[in-house]
Amino acid sequence: MSTTADELREEVRQRYAESARAVTEGSGGCGCGSGSCCADGESDAGTFGEALYDVEQRGELPEAAALASLGCGNPTAVVDLRAGETVLDLGSGGGIDVILSGKRVGPTGTAYGVDMTDEMLALAQQNARDAGVTNVHFLKGVIEQIPLPAASVDVVISNCVINLSTDKPAVLTEIARVLKPGGRIGVSDVVAEDRLSPGERATRGSYVGCIAGALSQSEYKAGLEAAGFEQISVDFTHQVADGMHGAIVKAVKAE
Ligand SMILES: C[S@@+](CC[C@H](N)C(=O)[O-])C[C@H]1O[C@@H](n2cnc3c(N)ncnc32)[C@H](O)[C@@H]1O
Repeated sequence: MSTTADELREEVRQRYAESARAVTEGSGGCGCGSGSCCADGESDAGTFGEALYDVEQRGELPEAAALASLGCGNPTAVVDLRAGETVLDLGSGGGIDVILSGKRVGPTGTAYGVDMTDEMLALAQQNARDAGVTNVHFLKGVIEQIPLPAASVDVVISNCVINLSTDKPAVLTEIARVLKPGGRIGVSDVVAEDRLSPGERATRGSYVGCIAGALSQSEYKAGLEAAGFEQISVDFTHQVADGMHGAIVKAVKAE
């Protein structure tokens, strides 16, 4: 029997709820060596998680927020954030990128995180309190239906989440809806080389481990173009499995 989209999303939610509980209890996310759920084992240290942030950035964070990092890149390092801007992080997890963004945009700006997992939202709120940032807000919701009004955001970031969505065209359309004209995307994600079929991607890792659901480079570009973006780039940064890479995805919403 094949897994439905709803069942797959529930599997993802349960996996990341378990990870948040493990971080809260101090035993590390999911029991993986790197502390990462977006990975399947010890060998993933250095390709997923807190190691992708530089020492200076980690110094800006409470230890628990850094330990809760489950991403495959560092979106705050790939997009310019300016004072006073509104930033939205899709799938904000333990809140690391929202906290760093809140510091970048300063007291006149705002950083939002959206996540569907209650345990992650609670962890992120605790981390934000510990970091002493007050211009950050964590919203419960799914990234296929973002709980923010149209044209309300300057920059959308995300770290290793879009690959987990069971409806990627809906996510890209929603990003276009909430961004202001000229708004920017700076996303880290797992992306496959075009030579790999969806079946071949699935042999390289699990869906909840951020591998099987990855788009290919061409699929990502075509999806962003269809959603109304321009200046699109999808650049590989580090290999996470044969033919699969951590990547930086950038685009601008047409004026
Ligand atoms: C791999 S973790 C990444 C967390 C965070 N971005 C980071 O870098 O540490 C994936 C996160 O995305 C959330 N998530 C996955 N699919 C989602 C969806 N469709 N809508 C909202 N949140 C989702 C999970 O609950 C989890 O917190």
